[in-house]
Amino acid sequence: MSLLEVKDLKTYFHTKEGIVKAVDGVTFTLEEGEAIALVGESGCGKTTTALSITKLLPQEGQIAGGNVLFNGNDLVKIPHGKMRRTRWNEISIVFQGAMNSLNPVMKVGDQIIEAIMLHKGSSRMEAKKKVKELFELVEINSERIDQYPHEFSGGMKQRAMIAMALACDPKLIIGDEPTTALDVMVQAQILNLLEKLRKDLNMSMILITHDLSVMGETCDKAAIMYAGKIVELGSVENILEKHLHPYTEKLVQSFPDIYGTREMISSIPGSPPNLLNPPGGCLFHPRCEFATEECRSKEPVLKEVSPNHFVSCHVRGGVM
Ligand SMILES: Nc1ncnc2c1ncn2[C@@H]1O[C@H](COP(=O)(O)OP(=O)(O)OP(=O)(O)O)[C@@H](O)[C@H]1O
Ligand SMILES: [Mg+2]
Repeated sequence: MSLLEVKDLKTYFHTKEGIVKAVDGVTFTLEEGEAIALVGESGCGKTTTALSITKLLPQEGQIAGGNVLFNGNDLVKIPHGKMRRTRWNEISIVFQGAMNSLNPVMKVGDQIIEAIMLHKGSSRMEAKKKVKELFELVEINSERIDQYPHEFSGGMKQRAMIAMALACDPKLIIGDEPTTALDVMVQAQILNLLEKLRKDLNMSMILITHDLSVMGETCDKAAIMYAGKIVELGSVENILEKHLHPYTEKLVQSFPDIYGTREMISSIPGSPPNLLNPPGGCLFHPRCEFATEECRSKEPVLKEVSPNHFVSCHVRGGVM
């Protein structure tokens, strides 16, 4: 049994203008200790996928179908109280601007101590000991636990948020662009830290990024998302070197030096569809140079083209 099995997940936002199908039939699995990247342009449903797994969706967002099996239990079906425990003890999430959510008038250490006392039922002394260990783990001097957020640099604040996410020893950590707000040097340090923690603690990880170099350095496999769907899923090597979907190809081409540049150099012409009024057929067809009549009229499905390599494309997703 996989640690996480996301099956045909559908999450819709009910807006005044209509229904936005932000996640529309997403399927992937994650094993213990494995890391998957969710990659794609802005608005393709990466964050919504993470918020659906953790059940942190805003009120207008609803899981309209599918399953999120964590150790075999369907998180879509479990009540909110139980989900809150699961969230800290089994799955935790670090957001892009997480460091800004530290309370400025409370010592950083105390913020994590309180979370541990609340979610683990530990005594204050036990929690404080754990926070010191966590600080060392994320490479912050444990003497700093009595400092306030303004005494921390941006990178240190983000490390503290990672410490907070690790507070209850989760099996799965989700990072939603956890380094985007940081400068390049600090980004690399934080990614190295996540990678080290994942190996040392045998955690699984979902890393959301629009950066293929981050994906290549940090993850085992990747799901390329477009307009709420996975268009290609495979090992990082498959995605970088044997990709088949024209969208993946464009993404890879926009990173000329996959292990160097952290910027998308050439952007892909056009933009993702308006999810309130998506085109028929393959959602990528208006931007695809290979589009055929079939692509315009019939939606492709994700098919396994070689072991553990899945592609959803009429033109490229058939034979190898
Ligand atoms: N609260 C909301 N109400 C309505 N639509 C929403 C809401 N949140 C997200 N959406 C829409 O859902 C789609 C997916 O958004 P999401 O934030 O998951 O994308 P993303 O891949 O994380 O993008 P980014 O890279 O910009 O973070 C977008 O079309 C977005 O406009
Ligand atoms: Mg996002």
